[in-house]
Formats: sequence, C-alpha cells, structure tokens
Amino acid sequence: MNDDVPTEKDAQLRSQWPVGIQEWENAATAAIGTNAFGWIAGGAAEESTIRWNIAAFERRRLRPRVLVDTSARDVSVEIAGTSSPAPFFLAPIGGQSVAHPDGEMAVARAARSQDIPFIISTAASYSMEEIAKEAGSSPYWYQLYCVNDREVVSSLIRRAEDCGCKAIVLTVDSPEVGWRDRDLRNGYTPFVQDEGLRQYTTDPVFRSRLSASPEDDPQGAATAMMRMFPNVSLSWDDLDWLRERIEMPLFMKGVLRGEDACRAVEAGVNGVIVSNHGGRQLDGEVASLDVLPEVRSAVGRDAIVLLDSGIRRGSDVVKALALGANAVLLGRPYVYGLAVGGQRGVEHVIHTLKAEIDLAFVLLGVTSVSDLDESFIV
Ligand code: FNR
Repeated sequence: MNDDVPTEKDAQLRSQWPVGIQEWENAATAAIGTNAFGWIAGGAAEESTIRWNIAAFERRRLRPRVLVDTSARDVSVEIAGTSSPAPFFLAPIGGQSVAHPDGEMAVARAARSQDIPFIISTAASYSMEEIAKEAGSSPYWYQLYCVNDREVVSSLIRRAEDCGCKAIVLTVDSPEVGWRDRDLRNGYTPFVQDEGLRQYTTDPVFRSRLSASPEDDPQGAATAMMRMFPNVSLSWDDLDWLRERIEMPLFMKGVLRGEDACRAVEAGVNGVIVSNHGGRQLDGEVASLDVLPEVRSAVGRDAIVLLDSGIRRGSDVVKALALGANAVLLGRPYVYGLAVGGQRGVEHVIHTLKAEIDLAFVLLGVTSVSDLDESFIV
C-alpha cells in the first residue's frame, strides 16, 4: 500500500466508477430506483441528524505536521483481536438485497478480497451461515438486535458462535424503528416485501413460533418478525443477561453519552460504538462525531471506542481517529457501491477509502493510527 499512491490515482482516472459521494448517490438512484434508494439514504423525520453528521465532519479542519518521513507508514488496526489493514470495518446494514440481489453475499466476497472485517446484521437478507461461507477465513462480527423473545435471542447468539463470528455488536438505539418520512411517502417497507428476514426465517426457534412455515406463509413470518422486533423494555439488566451468555467480545452500538459508555464498560462490554444509526432513529439527535471526545474521555484511553454515522471519505476517518476513535464503521457508501456494481462496486468503494486514508497519512505527516490526536484538529 505504501508505494501505490500515484498509481492509485492513475487507476482511479482510468476507472468508470463514480467519484465522490454525490456521484455514487446519483448512480445508485439510477440503478435501483427512488424507493429503494430512499430506504437506504433516508433517515428519521426531517433528516436533520443525517445533515448534522456530515456537517460535524465539515466543521473540523485538519492541521498537518510537515517534513515528517512517512515512507514507512501503517494504517492497520487491531480491534479486540480482529485485524484490519485499514482503520475501518463495514457497518451492519440490513436488507442488502434491496440494493442488489446478491446483497450481503456480494459484500462478504468484496470484504474478503480486501481483508476488511464486516458486521453481519440481524436484519440481513441472507442467513449468517450463508454469509459466513462467502467470507471464508476473513473476519466478521455479528450485530444483534435483542428482540422481545429471549429464546430467539439465545438461538441467534448460538448460531453466531457456531458460524465463526469473532464478536457480537449489540445495537441499543433501536428499541423501536424510527419514524421515516421518505418510506412513508414512498409507501416502501422492505421487510413487508420479504427482504431482510433471513436471519429469522432460518432460525429454528423463530420458526417454532409460527403457525405456518415462512415458505408457505411469508407474510405471516414478516408479521411475526415485526411483532418480535420492538423491545421497549430493554434495559441494563438485559445487558447483564447477554454478557453472561456471550463468550466472545461484546460491543454496544448506538451510544451517545459518556455516562452510558462508562456503564457499558463497567458491565463488561469490550467496547462501545458511538453512533446515531446514521440519523435513522431519532431525528434531532446529536452528530456522533460531536460526542466522541466526551465518550473517549469518560471511558479513558484503554477502552475501545468505535464511531460511525457520516464517514464518507478518508479525511473523515482521520478526523474521527484524531478525536479518539480506535477505528470507524463505513455505512451507506459501501451499499451505494453494492447498488451500482455488486461485489465489484463494494470492492471499489473499499479500495478508494483505503487509498484516501493512506494518502491522508502522508499529507498529515503521520505514520500510524496512534500518531493521531486532537492536535491535528482545529
Ligand atoms: C443501517 N444501520 C443498521 N445498524 C444496525 O445495527 N443494524 C442494522 O440492521 C442496520 N441496518 C441499516 C440499514 C440501512 C439501509 C442503513 C443506512 C443503516 C446503521 C448502520 O450500521 C450505521 O450505523 C449507519 O449506516 C451509519 O451512518 P452512515 O455513515 O451510513 O450515514
């Protein structure tokens, strides 16, 4: 990676792929239509939080160090035993068959080809076992929604362990699904259309809850899932219950307060993910980047803190690292890659972000992730 900066730009000049997020969004809309695109790109209500996520990155400016020899630089990270050649993982995103028929299978193949870890969603369009097969020996984690049926939750955890997931990410910002204006306007809900149900419909305990099999009655399965999803009584007691059952590293995703992050770490969580779910849950929520310094200072230097919501470019990644993240999660951009070009599109998005990060290290005068601190940010 170290010597390929000029070649990388030459390659990009020759490529036919979109350049920059706006072009990717346009190309994705053309590929999959307004309704599907709206479900992916859209968020809660007025979508203020989506805009603030982007604005929070724009407000921070980078202040490079000069005359630093960066010929031997290393952009890799290791997070709770999972290594990545670049300081990002692919965020858990459900229902990827909305973007491309191969959905998560194509993403797993792309992640494998680039060695980037990815996180399988509970709302995926393929089962975790199918996705794990595509991933082969490359690392993947499992994102858990703690639905309101504990036996189903236990079964999902067991399956994640059995199919080789290296960590569990418990998403805590979604006791209910957010209010999404775009989908209401478009009359579009992927789950009603049988997208994003595979984790459930392949689960023996979930299946035991149905009066007819999902193959005979897909609508009945969708309804059962939507009844099981809301868990508004979810609390710290459930976290203790989960911690006892999960042997692998456990992360908590959707944390926006220092005190919650501290409590999670005290409860035995291995790391927190500062996230507002890409502005899809509660409109008006603070940008995750804006609370990252508070969370980092609350949990101290040694705890693992990841961040997502608004990562679009390499410069965003280095800003988050400088403000205290150990690594970030890439969200919507890789799904636009999937919509536009399937596996190859995702590979291109990943490859571009890696190259941008590497170039940012050169131009900032840093040689490793640990070099980055708040002094690089104005
Ligand atoms: C998500 N996200 C998400 N998170 C999660 O924990 N489980 C899930 O199933 C999903 N599904 C999902 C679907 C779609 C279409 C999107 C866009 C997002 C949230 C995701 O993990 C991440 O937090 C956001 O994508 C980050 O915001 P940006 O950077 O994509 O804007």
